[in-house]
Amino acid sequence: MQFQFGIPCQVTFGNGAVKNIGQVLSELSATKVLLIYDQGVEQAGIVDKVKSYMEENQVETVSFSKVVPNPPDTILNEGAKLGRNEEVDGIVAIGGGSSIDVAKAINILLTNPGPINQYDGINMVKNQTKPLIAIPTTAGTRSEATSITVITDTEKKRKMVIGGRHCGADIALVDPELTIALPPSITAATGMDALTHAIEAYVSKFASVPSDVNALKAIELISNNLVEAYKNGNNLEARHNMMLGSMLAAYAFNSALLGVVHAIAHPLSVYCGLPHGVANASTLPYVMAFNATDEHVQYRHRDIARHMGIEVNNLSDAEASYKAIEAVKSLAEQVHIPTLSEAGVRRDQFDILAEATLNEEISIMANPTDVSKEDILDLIETAYVGSDVKDLKYVQSPLRK
Ligand SMILES: NC(=O)c1ccc[n+]([C@@H]2O[C@H](COP(=O)([O-])OP(=O)(O)OC[C@H]3O[C@@H](n4cnc5c(N)ncnc54)[C@H](O)[C@@H]3O)[C@@H](O)[C@H]2O)c1
Ligand SMILES: [Zn+2]
Repeated sequence: MQFQFGIPCQVTFGNGAVKNIGQVLSELSATKVLLIYDQGVEQAGIVDKVKSYMEENQVETVSFSKVVPNPPDTILNEGAKLGRNEEVDGIVAIGGGSSIDVAKAINILLTNPGPINQYDGINMVKNQTKPLIAIPTTAGTRSEATSITVITDTEKKRKMVIGGRHCGADIALVDPELTIALPPSITAATGMDALTHAIEAYVSKFASVPSDVNALKAIELISNNLVEAYKNGNNLEARHNMMLGSMLAAYAFNSALLGVVHAIAHPLSVYCGLPHGVANASTLPYVMAFNATDEHVQYRHRDIARHMGIEVNNLSDAEASYKAIEAVKSLAEQVHIPTLSEAGVRRDQFDILAEATLNEEISIMANPTDVSKEDILDLIETAYVGSDVKDLKYVQSPLRK
């Protein structure tokens, strides 16, 4: 058996980890850095905190705060120009996947010619980039743990996945305390995104022993802690476990890749403006049910059920798989993930969404079962109305009890 597995960056994990930023920068001989973040992170007071730790170590900062969710290619040139004019010798990204992805893309443009779109794909970036330190503030995407950046190509209306060499962060300071102020709706969406990463990686065609180990531990941590983090954001233990779980999920999908949930989610964000995590969570149980028409997937869902705390010893693989799907749907409901109709998606958008999903080649390729345009339209319709698992046509009738 042959597989590839990589963890792209060195991590310091734990409460207070962010206080190491000054020391980390001085070890890298960085004296003037481009600080990249968005308004939400700034308003949460996190940027000022990080800046003060850097000032204690005499590190100069230049700020770029124009990051927005599902970041478009149009914001990158300004950030890269700022970094070049100010002759920065490093980058610090503070935020969720959007801020860290923008930082990775700007870092590429500091030492490689633009536009960014020419690097869409794997190992397209040729020149070495500057040191990038990532400080994640969501327990979701965890871009610092992957060697890809996801940027929206505004002309082609698709999310580019730029990955491979020179597309990662060098060092991550992962501090669960930074997620305490994360509002419940963002905790829910980003947490369900992380669960989707783990589940899609676990059933992926490219799953391997190391990605499996990370995915299953991630499923356990996230399913045991998401509702508590959502309801009681101050619970540091739940925040800690969500931060750890989402990191392990990213380790899993960085090598095993994702699947049809993410293939549908990207167009849902581009065409309908859905937050990434909501887009994933709304279709996850339905794609699981679709994939479970394959017996191998049912067998894998059995492990997922077990790691979600479900007793499966006396169940067939099909029954255990059904329980896992029900548990995932219930988790999404407990954290109030909307249906696609509640999220504002319109029926007249279904066709363009299905067409665009088929163009998400990497995720379609990694999915354990083949999917047609008709299947995708059906999955979108099911997520639009928020069907019960027992009513799904993919679920065999003896299980519907
Ligand atoms: N690079 C990768 O490996 C990878 C993989 C999958 C998806 N993505 C991309 O990552 C993006 C999603 O990232 P995300 O889900 O982490 O969210 P995000 O970065 O888009 O942030 C979501 C919201 O949370 C706010 N926020 C973040 N941290 C906060 C905090 N501590 N307190 C208060 N508010 C806070 C932000 O201001 C923002 O409004 C999408 O564009 C997605 O396509 C990247
Ligand atoms: Zn995701």
